Amino acid sequence: MFKDSDYHIPVLYTEVLESLLIKPGGIYVDCTAGGGGHSSGILKRLSSTGLLISIDQDPAALTATKLKLESLNQNNAQFILVKNQFSNLREILNDLKIDKVDGVLADLGVSSYQIDTAERGFSFQKDGDLDMRMDPSNPIKAADIVNNSSVDELTYIFRVYGEEQFARRIASAIIAERKIKPFRSTFDLVELIKKNIPAKSKREKHPAKRVFQALRIAVNQELKELEDLLDILPQCVKSGGRIDFISFHSLEDRIIKHKFQKWENPCTCPKDFPVCICDNKPLGKIISRKGITATKMEIAKNSRARSARLRVFEMI
Ligand SMILES: C[S@@+](CC[C@H](N)C(=O)[O-])C[C@H]1O[C@@H](n2cnc3c(N)ncnc32)[C@H](O)[C@@H]1O
Repeated sequence: MFKDSDYHIPVLYTEVLESLLIKPGGIYVDCTAGGGGHSSGILKRLSSTGLLISIDQDPAALTATKLKLESLNQNNAQFILVKNQFSNLREILNDLKIDKVDGVLADLGVSSYQIDTAERGFSFQKDGDLDMRMDPSNPIKAADIVNNSSVDELTYIFRVYGEEQFARRIASAIIAERKIKPFRSTFDLVELIKKNIPAKSKREKHPAKRVFQALRIAVNQELKELEDLLDILPQCVKSGGRIDFISFHSLEDRIIKHKFQKWENPCTCPKDFPVCICDNKPLGKIISRKGITATKMEIAKNSRARSARLRVFEMI
């Protein structure tokens, strides 16, 4: 059993809570409950007529969030925990007979608890099953991808999702190695990567960091989940409602930034048209044009905050 403080330190906590402009009687969705850090901040600001919906695809995250929310719900606000993928937000709200909500938060990626639990297989620093599923009922583990994908598929995953310079070299080495013995554990893969990255390219980061990030994204279809959520959000948030996204790498941040720009300026008319004829109306405005990053003080306390970027959009 974990101690609450061990579970996950929420990043950009104050910035998220301020930017959501929480109304005590409003309805808010936390798409990524994790350890319940941001969820608890939202709940504390709600009155007994307010409602928080906290979603996660990992049942362990929901158990942690439930404990935390129950222990600090002094205002008797309502909260509902939902085990689901956030791309299903429209169906989740339909089931709850809710048309639109006042604000949505998604704090992407994995929690510290998931990374620190060796048997979940997210960490290149701990030996465990090569798993990496956020949702343990997902049929595909990282080991399935490593042991069954073609060299081109593995190269694509490592290059595109991990921005790994030695993608093909690592993929080819995996194909050769798995003919002798399939990959089972995180350290099986770490050892192979260490052997196949040229010594002279010693990096500041752990040699396996990029491949592990890439596999995690592939196993959990993280970019598709993000794109699907962004596609449905405008139908789920009320006028004046805020949408907050925290991302931890440039692939995700780029997707969010471009979608927010499209929402703010959806016009598809050629630039030299004197008037707009496409009739696509803006959905709202970008609140933080460059995104909000953590202060030096927060980074000193929580190194995970270093790469976090919060982007905020307000619906018209
Ligand atoms: C960075 S943690 C969130 C931490 C949380 N904000 C807190 O303060 O404790 C991300 C969480 O989102 C969950 N998650 C990631 N992608 C998801 C998805 N597509 N659907 C549902 N949950 C997801 C993960 O299982 C993980 O628990």
